[in-house]
Amino acid sequence: MSSQTGTLPAEGVRAMFDRIAPVYDAMNRVMTVGLDGRWRRETAAAVVSPGDRVLDACCGTGDLALASLRAGGIVTGLDFSERMLERARRKSGEIEWVQGDALALPFEDDSFDAATVGFGVRNLEDLDRGLAELARVLRPDGRLGVLEITRPKGLLAPFYSVWFGAIVPVLGKLLPGGSAYTYLPASVKRFPGPEDLARFLREAGFSDVRYRLFAGGIVALHTGVAA
Ligand SMILES: C[S@@+](CC[C@H](N)C(=O)[O-])C[C@H]1O[C@@H](n2cnc3c(N)ncnc32)[C@H](O)[C@@H]1O
Repeated sequence: MSSQTGTLPAEGVRAMFDRIAPVYDAMNRVMTVGLDGRWRRETAAAVVSPGDRVLDACCGTGDLALASLRAGGIVTGLDFSERMLERARRKSGEIEWVQGDALALPFEDDSFDAATVGFGVRNLEDLDRGLAELARVLRPDGRLGVLEITRPKGLLAPFYSVWFGAIVPVLGKLLPGGSAYTYLPASVKRFPGPEDLARFLREAGFSDVRYRLFAGGIVALHTGVAA
């Protein structure tokens, strides 16, 4: 699949997250009215068992990796934005933080029992390749959890357009450095709906693919099992 962010190739995405890093956590809390913590805990609970080796790809400032640590995992967080990783490192010395590309993971085959991606697959320049890399580094029967904004159907659809299309970019402008939040509506609009993402996971070789919707269908948690 081609670029999820349209005009932004990978280098542009990395530079954008370097710029956003100082306001990223605050924006998350505001945009999700504080619900993101619960979604991250649910994601970790769905795929991580105590003692698991866990990869959190596109870990950003590290909150999903921290949820996996709290679920008992031995966690590696990977991101290509050094500024996002700087913030993650301040949150935990127990997690191994690695700067690297999710499209060319610097890990051997079968290195992990579980993997998570939080609000990250939408930003991948090549979603198929990203999913193939996750499948490669997971051991057979390893579990994947993908938490992502998705397009709701029905009553919430107009609210969602106004929230991400108008309100979030304005909120971003109020925070120093947050003007880059204008990227979000575009990246969300281009992203596949939950059924499509489930299909991509199956096409990447994951079995037992399921998803649950949070917040009336604005956020989806997809899970699957590696071959
Ligand atoms: C919206 S943030 C999500 C951060 C975090 N997972 C969370 O749940 O808050 C997306 C992250 O994906 C990272 N990213 C995007 N493409 C990447 C790639 N190809 N390799 C590594 N990291 C990538 C960005 O640097 C950014 O930190």
